[in-house]
Amino acid sequence: MSATRIRVGGERPYEVVVGHGIAGELPALVGDQARTVVLVHAEGLESLARPAREALGAGGYTVRTEPVPPGEAAKDIGVASALWSRLAVHRISRSDVIIGLGGGAVTDLAGFVAATWLRGVRAVLVPTTLLAIVDAAIGGKTGINIAAGKNLVGAFHPPAGVLADLDALGSLPRREYVSGMAEVIKAGFIADPAILGLIEQDPAGAAAPGGPHERELVERAIRMKAAVVAADLREAGQREMLNYGHTLGHAIERAEDYAIPHGEAVALGMMFAAAVGRLAGRLDQATAERHGEILGAVGLPVSYRSGSWPDLRDAMSVDKKTRGRHLRLVVLDGLARPGILADPPEDLLAQAFAEV
Ligand SMILES: NC(=O)c1ccc[n+]([C@@H]2O[C@H](COP(=O)([O-])OP(=O)(O)OC[C@H]3O[C@@H](n4cnc5c(N)ncnc54)[C@H](O)[C@@H]3O)[C@@H](O)[C@H]2O)c1
Ligand SMILES: [Zn+2]
Repeated sequence: MSATRIRVGGERPYEVVVGHGIAGELPALVGDQARTVVLVHAEGLESLARPAREALGAGGYTVRTEPVPPGEAAKDIGVASALWSRLAVHRISRSDVIIGLGGGAVTDLAGFVAATWLRGVRAVLVPTTLLAIVDAAIGGKTGINIAAGKNLVGAFHPPAGVLADLDALGSLPRREYVSGMAEVIKAGFIADPAILGLIEQDPAGAAAPGGPHERELVERAIRMKAAVVAADLREAGQREMLNYGHTLGHAIERAEDYAIPHGEAVALGMMFAAAVGRLAGRLDQATAERHGEILGAVGLPVSYRSGSWPDLRDAMSVDKKTRGRHLRLVVLDGLARPGILADPPEDLLAQAFAEV
């Protein structure tokens, strides 16, 4: 089957190319202005980087490969600084391109380095985890972590193109894959219920790489995010709905010292948001219950007993996306009808948490 091209609109539209074995699409995404491309990839992903390097070499580019530490360790000022020095050595000019190949950590880092080098060179992202394919690589948010918190330093710098080769997912540990599926399910609840139907038909197939509906699920989740970020690159309004399940989710991640995968925390956050929506009289019982059924069916957690509510509640108020001390929760007014619940009553929040 040929590759699917999903256009992300905005000031500088770009394409997300989705398919299997599509490294050959990379030169077209890089374009003919560039002479040198710097291929930043996570250590350990050499076998995924090889087809990319070969396709770029065949395309006539000079390819400079720069491995970075795997996982969150990549999103560090020391790593960014070392890359800047390498870009100087490679004499990377304004017309050259930086490619970030790996999970969301590497695409965030590569995007950030591209945003800052010479005040901005083009980035092409090659996400290799489900989370990075449906979320991190799309939308133009880039960044690194500092001791005071995750993603506190960064820039909006939409990529020039995204290559999502689903073959890469084959080597992903199951837990990582299922974690990414939480964002796909989120897309189903906030915007595209067909996603939920596909997963409910075959939850086991959706819980591991290579399932029969994988490509359609991925493409639907990408289209959802593409539509939202095209309308709202800088988080003025619409983009807020992508935060569904993330207010409590981020608080749980912090409470657990980031020892649980992002998607698992978001699954718990969506369980909470569904309970809040129902208790506030905004979400019907059946749609609220559907959260637990579908999240549980793919192996995501639906119950959380370890956290202390007062601590999590405090952490929710310092979420960088809340304005001041006020809590703005994304809730559903029904399937695919996200809305905001501002300043919800404290007893309602506590009761919703007790249900999770
Ligand atoms: N910019 C955004 O809008 C956005 C959105 C969501 C998440 N993020 C960021 O994404 C990051 C999380 O991304 P992630 O979940 O992809 O984790 P990750 O990037 O930390 O990758 C997890 C691990 O899997 C490895 N890996 C990657 N692809 C693999 C493959 N195909 N096979 C085997 N192993 C592979 C990585 O090297 C790493 O060790 C966080 O830093 C988060 O802040 C950014
Ligand atoms: Zn998320």
